[in-house]
Amino acid sequence: MNARVRYALALLVALSALVALAWLIVGHTTRGWFEKDVGLRAELAVNGARRAVLRDLQAGNLPALRELLTDITRDERIMGAALCSPELDVIVATAGFPDAFACRTVGPHLRADAGAPPDRWTAWRDTASLPGGAVHVNAIPLSEAGDVKAFAIVTHDLSYVARREASTRYFLLCAFAVIALLASISTLLVVRASRRRWNDALQRMAKGEDVPQRREFLPLIKDLRELLDRLATEEQADLRSGAWTPERLKLTLNRHLHGERLVVVANREPYIHDRASDGSVRVLHPASGLVSALEPVLRACSGVWVAHGAGSADRETADKHGRVRVPPGEESYVVRRVWLSPEEEKGYYYGFSNEGLWPLCHVSHTRPTFRAEDWQHYREVNQRFVDAVCDEVDTDDPVILVQDYHFALAPRLLRERLPRATILTFWHIPWPNAEQISICPWHRELIHGLLGSSILGFHTPFHCNNFMEAADRFLESRLDREDLAVVQENRRTLVRSYPISIEWPNRWLEHAPSVVECRAAVLAELGLSSDARLGVGVDRLDYTKGIEERMRAIEKLLEKQPQLVGRFTFLQIASPSRTEIARYAQLRDDVEALVERINARFGREDWKPIVLRRQHTEPRDVFRYYRAAEICYVSSLHDGMNLVAKEYIAARDDEQGVLVLSQFTGAARELTEALIVNPYDIEQAGRALAVALAMPLAEQRARMRAMRKLVAEYNVYRWAGRMLLDASRLRRREQLAGVLGASDPDYLARAEP
Ligand code: G6P
Repeated sequence: MNARVRYALALLVALSALVALAWLIVGHTTRGWFEKDVGLRAELAVNGARRAVLRDLQAGNLPALRELLTDITRDERIMGAALCSPELDVIVATAGFPDAFACRTVGPHLRADAGAPPDRWTAWRDTASLPGGAVHVNAIPLSEAGDVKAFAIVTHDLSYVARREASTRYFLLCAFAVIALLASISTLLVVRASRRRWNDALQRMAKGEDVPQRREFLPLIKDLRELLDRLATEEQADLRSGAWTPERLKLTLNRHLHGERLVVVANREPYIHDRASDGSVRVLHPASGLVSALEPVLRACSGVWVAHGAGSADRETADKHGRVRVPPGEESYVVRRVWLSPEEEKGYYYGFSNEGLWPLCHVSHTRPTFRAEDWQHYREVNQRFVDAVCDEVDTDDPVILVQDYHFALAPRLLRERLPRATILTFWHIPWPNAEQISICPWHRELIHGLLGSSILGFHTPFHCNNFMEAADRFLESRLDREDLAVVQENRRTLVRSYPISIEWPNRWLEHAPSVVECRAAVLAELGLSSDARLGVGVDRLDYTKGIEERMRAIEKLLEKQPQLVGRFTFLQIASPSRTEIARYAQLRDDVEALVERINARFGREDWKPIVLRRQHTEPRDVFRYYRAAEICYVSSLHDGMNLVAKEYIAARDDEQGVLVLSQFTGAARELTEALIVNPYDIEQAGRALAVALAMPLAEQRARMRAMRKLVAEYNVYRWAGRMLLDASRLRRREQLAGVLGASDPDYLARAEP
């Protein structure tokens, strides 16, 4: 039996006892009052006729005595009266006087009372034999000069007393019930009001808000904090110890988030179905750092990836809801494709996202363009994706991973639809300073949108600070610098840095030929001799990647190291990207012209220093090139992280090869054993390339080993694991803070790790 039932039963028993007691008291007191009342009335009546009765008694005038008694019994409730001699003989009685109270019957009772003074000779009894059930009998002595001459017996019908008693009890019960009801309702209201007040105060205290501390809550808050600290310590320990693998990520999700399905919202889909020129459908893996990072996470955890269906054969390979199971052959999660019209794609993707936000967030000197109609499409498409997410979720508190600058408004829109959701937003590109972000006419809306997130992630603490500063400057919000959070409209968004990474071990290396074989095959493919020196660059053809600066550094290298002419080749993989945008078309022309010029300057008939591959290249081939090349140059002018740098390291399981890395990438903060350069400084970059090519094998090994260790440890499973653990901790904190008002009594059981 649970506590609430026991409490209700006890209350019922107490109430019944109270009612029974009241019942007895009512019976006893009302009957007492009525007895007294009729006794007095009988005495009054007899005493009023006393003189006349004594006189007629002495005169033996029986008719007069009967008349006197008849007068006394005129009251309708008096049933009858009789006059008895002290020897218990009937002197005279009224008609209908009940035999049950004849002189001889009542007499013995009077005798029992003989010790009492004569004026107290009364007797009383109930009898069921009479109509009405209750009779009151009074025997009143009539004395003269201290001598009892006779006594009068007066009988009252008391059946009306029983009726009055019943109605008094009935009214009493009703009154009790009404009072009990009113008392219960008012107690309930008071309890609810004070519980709400308590909950509110307790929640605010638990959230660490600046509210007056209530002493009665302090022990509970202390316990809560201890619990949270313990969980945090456990989670920190989880993070510190051992390698992160897909299995461990899955376990983490199961253990800490109770096996929630992840819902990822990202513009770019991980598998594109494309119709080739021969009519066949092929599956492409897009060139996107976001995709290479997140895809292994979804494969490990399963769930849904909501993305723009941009492939030419995407519709025919998806079901009527736009769903398709991937990866082909493995089918461990679902891609839900959102179809966009050409106008929507132009406004939201090419326009606002890539002509506006992309150049705005990258300090790469391409002027951003903001158009009102692009903004309108951006808003509408964010709403379309949010609708698709809501179709896909199966609980009211899902875990949703919103990705990148295409969806700055989605977190807020999701929050409005799913207030209990855990929304992790990750911004894959840099977040500029407040001055710069304010160039966007709708910067307030963007920040407000992002603050719908539970957690907002950037690659570096620097970008976190930029965001917090912008939130502080442009919105009504409060910064919690200790907890690194922005509080707006009573909602808190944690702002955290999570440096993204790649899968480790990498699936593209699973069946890869050895480094020696790769090198031989690639050199043969490029028509180079076996002793040729090879460098590689892998990028989308994007102006933020510093491809022109890279080409100029190679030119400088050849200028300064003429012995490399004819021996050193740089393979530049440049995947076409955002080709509808004029700036990208211009970049393509500029890069082509530059490569042509450098090749013309140093090239020979059978050799050219730069091989430009301006085509989509599948990851398996990219990894072959990484393994074949002695150096890899990443020259981004500004980059959130840059995963090419990490992929090159992953590819070099022979611990050889040198990474030359731009100081303006997020990766440069982690990969400190790379040769870090300023890509704008062509002289310095050219020198770095020369140093890389001359680096002794032992030094290459030492640097590569250190970087491989770091990337192996800080792989993408750890990145996702950290975010999900933070999310689970936040969920638990919200559950505990809402606890006290939570209607679900099992919350602790569920929150228990
Ligand atoms: C960057 C962005 C990603 C994007 C990728 C490729 O890495 O952060 O969101 O997917 O570029 O760009 P694309 O426009 O082809 O998706």
